Amino acid sequence: MLILNGKDVAKEVRSTLALRVAEFAKKVGRTPHLSVVIVGDDAASHIYVRNKKKACESVGMTSQIIAMPTKTTQQELNKQIAALNTDSSVDGILVQFPLPAHLSADEVLKLVAPDKDADGLTYASLGYFFAGKPFVKPCTPEGVMTILKHYGISVEGRRAVVVGRSNIVGKPMAHLLTEANATVTLCHSKTNDLSSVVREADLVVVAAGKARFLGRNDFKKDAIVIDVGMHHDGPNGKLCGDVRTEELEGWVQAVTPVPGGVGPMTIATLLQNTCLLAEKRAGL
Ligand code: GUN
Repeated sequence: MLILNGKDVAKEVRSTLALRVAEFAKKVGRTPHLSVVIVGDDAASHIYVRNKKKACESVGMTSQIIAMPTKTTQQELNKQIAALNTDSSVDGILVQFPLPAHLSADEVLKLVAPDKDADGLTYASLGYFFAGKPFVKPCTPEGVMTILKHYGISVEGRRAVVVGRSNIVGKPMAHLLTEANATVTLCHSKTNDLSSVVREADLVVVAAGKARFLGRNDFKKDAIVIDVGMHHDGPNGKLCGDVRTEELEGWVQAVTPVPGGVGPMTIATLLQNTCLLAEKRAGL
């Protein structure tokens, strides 16, 4: 069973990106810049945001964390986003989710300008994306496509099943696989006999948001399994995904581990997106 090592692929993406960033700096006279907005004091979110900043710095991009207090009003948050939309030194904007309960993610997803939306998740960005005219692509599904390409896994003509229909992963994942000429089925919590549908797939992307949800009996022999799950409450208090990976040895062809699979690719793609948006705004 081949382990699809997202950590290694992300490292490779970052080294290619560092060259691109250096080229951008030479031509434009500044470096691509990502502004990350975080509201409140959720400890895990602050760690994620710091990791994004560190990742930016590792490829020579600049990044700024705008930490706003929990008591921030919607109007204040909207004003901050509007200021970043018009600040010419900012190439990418990311508003970290979840927001405190009194604030609306919906407003944020309506407000961030698509030509600065490094996450690729705003309604405008998703509109361009699903119409086949993306500014950037949503980070996690695009990161999955990069892993597949890295390992020379072609999906053309093959049966793919995506489990989960979120705007962040499931729906854009199904779209990217369709564009790559797979025949795609999108499953969700209301799918009848999910297991029998998943067993038909050559490639399965599991983004169900349920810890250790699928195992050996759910997959066809020699399937390729991409596990998008990330749960902090696995056996022995360890991280785990949506798949019971330890059951798959000798059965599936390849699987992404958790941690070290899809997760690092999401951040690597965020960096790629920021660089791409910077290049587009600079007319390169
Ligand atoms: N919170 C957890 N994952 C993400 C993500 O991909 N983007 C944003 N903006 N917030 C998140």
